[in-house]
Amino acid sequence: MIKRISPEETYLLRREILRKNLPQESHEFSGDFDDQTFHLGYFVEDRIVGIITVLQNGEIAQIRGMAVSEDYQGKGIGKKLVEKAEEILSEAQIHKIWMNARETAAEFYEKLGYKIEGELFNVKPIGFHYVMTKYFNS
Ligand SMILES: CC(C)(COP(=O)(O)OP(=O)(O)OC[C@H]1O[C@@H](n2cnc3c(N)ncnc32)[C@H](O)[C@@H]1OP(=O)(O)O)[C@@H](O)C(=O)NCCC(=O)NCCS
Repeated sequence: MIKRISPEETYLLRREILRKNLPQESHEFSGDFDDQTFHLGYFVEDRIVGIITVLQNGEIAQIRGMAVSEDYQGKGIGKKLVEKAEEILSEAQIHKIWMNARETAAEFYEKLGYKIEGELFNVKPIGFHYVMTKYFNS
């Protein structure tokens, strides 16, 4: 089941999946507490096994902090979280959604209709990323 969650509820999975071996504070993103930002969690009973954060700036939204617990990857949870975020954003007249996608996750986003824009770039110390975008008629 997908529910809205607080920024703090994302930290555990962000640390586990996205910030392995990195400083503790790096699991907090600027914009986490902005009014327009929302966070979704995929629940299995009381445990959050998938997360997504969406920041909004006018007609543009950015997906951040997308992660699924290792024992639940490959079961369609990531896809459901992106689709739920898009459903919420469709009511907010969003024109474009983008993200800095890890090279290793680019194919996951491609399957959801996102396209690579530009060259591969290095976000040290996390690794190589592409900007990926999807446009909506508004
Ligand atoms: C990338 C991630 C969010 C995907 O979530 P998930 O729940 O495992 O993915 P889903 O099961 O919803 O996959 C949906 C489709 O994408 C494919 N897919 C998922 N992860 C993939 C990957 N890393 N590379 C290529 N294809 C992938 C699945 O095979 C599936 O394909 P299908 O529809 O043809 O069956 C998750 O694996 C994860 O947290 N990975 C580690 C952290 C990470 O890379 N986060 C993204 C940072 S930008």
